[in-house]
Amino acid sequence: MRKKLIAGNWKMNLDWNEAMTLFANLIQFETSKQSKADVAVFPPSAYIRHFYELASDRKSSIGIGAQDCSEYNGGAYTGELAASMIKSVGASYCLVGHSERREYHHESNDVLSEKVERLLENDVIPVFCCGESLDHRESGNHTFVTDNQLDGTIFELNEEQFSNVVIAYEPVWAIGTGKTASPDQAQDMHAFIRGLVQSKYGATIANNTRILYGGSMKPSNAHELLSQPDVDGGLIGGASLKVDDFGAIINACS
Ligand code: PGA
Repeated sequence: MRKKLIAGNWKMNLDWNEAMTLFANLIQFETSKQSKADVAVFPPSAYIRHFYELASDRKSSIGIGAQDCSEYNGGAYTGELAASMIKSVGASYCLVGHSERREYHHESNDVLSEKVERLLENDVIPVFCCGESLDHRESGNHTFVTDNQLDGTIFELNEEQFSNVVIAYEPVWAIGTGKTASPDQAQDMHAFIRGLVQSKYGATIANNTRILYGGSMKPSNAHELLSQPDVDGGLIGGASLKVDDFGAIINACS
């Protein structure tokens, strides 16, 4: 049985005081409930160490993730953070292949593959994002495109490596737009992705792989999306910036 994972992608939002307040409130929420899901937040990297220490002090099980890492081990790459560095400040997860990175930073499958490798070498769980644009959805190419995003990257991993990866299906047309995939659309794509994992790695690994849905998940649609048999959690942007909304999504996990 896969345990759900509710992950908050804060993107480049919240200054230090706002972030500390939100995280402290979230810890309070999470420690006062018997949450049925694993919970993680992906704040701006500058906050990771402090969040990690606060979570440890308060005995919170909230995981901390980074939003990006370098494809290199270290060296003369100004502005970059190595996987070993984010690990050393307390990140246990890292996003890879978010559509905003693919689009604004032109990250190719080759670069994403390298990032995944660096993360796995450093015992950080990659949360690998995939999903089609509106054009691809409307032309009926959504499965083809998503397959290609996986084929050229995490499907190159061996079984042991792949077992440590979380997949996030995020249709680009649903990210930050308020337009959510219907529960049926989400379930179809998640089942499709799990089918691909099964043909590549077999039934046991496919059954154990967590596939999160991302794209305008909010309290009003979370329960229906999270009730789909192949939806194993959510990667939440906008609604993760308010403790009430994020908490309601955590509570929507049955
Ligand atoms: P959203 O973002 O929930 O604001 O649509 C999701 C994401 O980008 O991961």
